[in-house]
Amino acid sequence: MAQYKVVTMPGDGIGNNVLEQSLRVLEAVGFDAEYIQADIGWKCWINEGNALPDRTVELLRQHKLGLFGAITSKPKGEAAAELKPELRDRGLVYYSPIVSMRQTFNLDVCVRPCRSFPGNPLNFIRRAPDGGVEEPPVDAVIFRQNTEGLYAGVEWTDPPENVRAALGTHPKFQRFAGALGNELALSLRVFTRTACRRIVQAAFEYARKHGYTSVTICEKPNVLRETSGMMMEVGREIAKEFDGIDLWITNIDAQMMWLTKNPESYGVMVAGNLFGDILSDAFAGLVGGLGFACSANVGDEVAVFEPTHGSAPKYAELSPSIVNPIAMILSAAMLLDHVGETDKAGRIRDAVAAVVKGGRVRTYDMLRLPGSAKALAQGAASTEQMTDAILKALET
Ligand code: NAI
Ligand code: MG
Repeated sequence: MAQYKVVTMPGDGIGNNVLEQSLRVLEAVGFDAEYIQADIGWKCWINEGNALPDRTVELLRQHKLGLFGAITSKPKGEAAAELKPELRDRGLVYYSPIVSMRQTFNLDVCVRPCRSFPGNPLNFIRRAPDGGVEEPPVDAVIFRQNTEGLYAGVEWTDPPENVRAALGTHPKFQRFAGALGNELALSLRVFTRTACRRIVQAAFEYARKHGYTSVTICEKPNVLRETSGMMMEVGREIAKEFDGIDLWITNIDAQMMWLTKNPESYGVMVAGNLFGDILSDAFAGLVGGLGFACSANVGDEVAVFEPTHGSAPKYAELSPSIVNPIAMILSAAMLLDHVGETDKAGRIRDAVAAVVKGGRVRTYDMLRLPGSAKALAQGAASTEQMTDAILKALET
């Protein structure tokens, strides 16, 4: 019997192509796992009215480890229109299965490392004082609160009367009281102290384990006094338990500017759900973009690993596939780290680093080519060729 059982959820579009590549790499490093494929995504929505079927939830509950490709999401109206005819008019509402999964299993700690690989032509560069070009190494790890904040899902257009009445007790709401019916939309930013503690604690522990000397909390406490304020307060409390690791507190807007000026100054970062999403995409852009952006969604029991990119429908049908499998492969390496197979994870990252540095095998995104079948004729590697190169590097 295999040592580990992993639930694989390829999902939609390029999720399928890239997940398959990550399994080739896991096999090559000798990860002793049995893979149990589970359904998720758009087909499940159309045919069952639920993008995250109960059987998939059950498999995750049972096996605790998930590897997820990507899914396709569409706005409310479009989603309802694509349901198969017998499911229409039942009032079914589309929810993103990855958001549901995070909430179902309280996968509240999202980890998104953004590290530059030397030799990647997409790395951030800037003008040096002497007029030359500098390429500062980026090594940021974003801890994004994954279940609350503005993505808590507590929202209304035309809120019910009792909600209006409750809001009416806040003096600042008076200005909006005249916005009647569907003139008013609300999305509530919900923070709990427990979740703030868990994300900040996870970040500090990671910093200690990996030798980072600071943790930066990136919020907006001067304006969002209650929610960002709580995160900051919790940060100050937890920082006391970590000698030798400084707590920095920055505002998200200024941080977005600083990271494009001196990204090398930042290591472990913490933010609420929406700010963390934005911050991690911004850092990802400095180290190669979506083709390199890996992530972990970690709860107390279950953990799911996924590239941060989506299903890229416009490339899904291309054969051979042209998208970059590295984000997915690095996500699989995070799964290995999570279960303590750190040597195997390290070997995968070294192999990716060697291929990137070698510079001979590059997918279309790394060559800044328009994404199309033509890219291959222009010298881009296919998805599979990139994986082949990584497998080859693993042998040496
Ligand atoms: P996307 O991430 O699918 O694609 C955006 C662009 O990034 C692509 O057109 C492509 O140019 C590039 N790209 C993405 N992955 C790449 C890779 N591995 N290699 C090279 N280039 C890559 O985001 P988009 O177009 O906004 O959304 C497409 C669908 O994916 C939507 O239905 C959206 O809801 C869904 N989505 C799903 C996510 C998930 O499953 N976690 C996350 C983000 C979007
Ligand atoms: Mg995102």
